[in-house]
Amino acid sequence: MFYKINTYGCQMNVHESEKIAGILENLGYKATNEDSLADIILFNTCCIRENAEDKLFGNVGALKQLKKEKKDLIIAVVGCMTQQEGKASILRQKYPYVDIVLGTSNLEMLEDAINSIRRKKHIVSIVDPTMDADKTLPIYRTSYPNAWVNIMYGCNNFCTYCIVPYVRGRERSRKEVDILDDCKKLLDEGYREITLLGQNVDSYGSDLKGFNFSSLLYKVANLGGEYRVRFMTSHPKDFNDDTIAVISENENICKNIHLPVQSGSTAVLKAMNRKYTRESYLNIIDKIRKQMPECGITSDIMVGFPTETNEDYLDTLTLTEQVRFSNAFTFVYSPRVGTPAAKMVQIPDEIKKERVTKLVDLQNRISKEISLEYIGKTKEILVEDINPKYEGMVCGRTDSGRLVTFNGSSDLIGTFQNVKITHSQSSALFGEME
Ligand code: 5AD
Ligand code: SF4
Repeated sequence: MFYKINTYGCQMNVHESEKIAGILENLGYKATNEDSLADIILFNTCCIRENAEDKLFGNVGALKQLKKEKKDLIIAVVGCMTQQEGKASILRQKYPYVDIVLGTSNLEMLEDAINSIRRKKHIVSIVDPTMDADKTLPIYRTSYPNAWVNIMYGCNNFCTYCIVPYVRGRERSRKEVDILDDCKKLLDEGYREITLLGQNVDSYGSDLKGFNFSSLLYKVANLGGEYRVRFMTSHPKDFNDDTIAVISENENICKNIHLPVQSGSTAVLKAMNRKYTRESYLNIIDKIRKQMPECGITSDIMVGFPTETNEDYLDTLTLTEQVRFSNAFTFVYSPRVGTPAAKMVQIPDEIKKERVTKLVDLQNRISKEISLEYIGKTKEILVEDINPKYEGMVCGRTDSGRLVTFNGSSDLIGTFQNVKITHSQSSALFGEME
């Protein structure tokens, strides 16, 4: 029996797919990349932007014929999109051959759902985004030497463009002892990097008494042994001095911070309900740079939010230029039904396109320039994988988060190597082991 999981969206979804795989492996299924071999095909969905949804519907639609030919094939759609209002009923109506629909918080029902389908019952279940944060699912990890560890679920921030709080529910922090326990076990199993995951990691503990992110981070970094710690995503409104101090004082916490700015205009940030200003964001960046000059700072930047004037947009460009993100994910705002911004006057598509093109060009130039600064330097790399594009080459990351490709074979995966960076191709780095 085989399963195939198609994962869309963020790191959180990638990790949730490892939980789905854990459940399926326990049921005796094995992974495959071939639709035609699979007995169950799952779509772990994203709903952050409109095109994520369109792609999903297209791919589910493409399975209609296969399902006709193979009656026992189970098709499941799970994750964020299913919890968006109205989407489950669209799935039911337009794609009646989908057997299982489960929300992000209802993955523990997957086993029952599969058993129920096997007994020829049609099941559709969803919508409860309040799963107890202490519930654990089996995890079939596919990302050695890195292991993702959820520290919290949900989000309380209600940025006016964002659907996440509606589909993933309120913030629920996991218990610190459980997180530390997971991390210890993973290190004992040989994992070399732990990435703490949450929609808003730096507000960890705000729903618990006496716990916060900086002290959790400190504890995760001091479990003993040789390993790295990463975390994502941080929200600028919660990124405090204690957190900066813990990162800078602990060598094994990667100097790599993903701190989405969204916009360089205080007025737009206010309309987005981001709860910080251009100045306070730049102030955090200053503090990070002072204490950790080599820190790789990455971001999410959005253009075309309703109310964004040309001046606001220019503010985003100047901020991008000033901060010099080592990398940034650029987003064109797309309205999500049910969010406040969807009801505002929208910016024409041509303007959005123009704005994003210029922003992407600017960020590409900066990323390339930053790559050039690495040439000639020796960096410690945690080897992650073979690089399938180049024979006899492996790749891994610097502590600042840059991917480096160099000569080597798969037996290096999971080891730390000193690599001299020799050249870059656009922003990708290449080097030689010392
Ligand atoms: N349109 C475009 N981008 C969005 N994001 C969130 N919601 C939207 C939307 N409606 C982006 C934000 C966030 C990232 C994960 O997705 O930049 O940080
Ligand atoms: Fe969405 Fe804002 Fe929460 Fe991030 S912090 S998940 S952008 S609401």
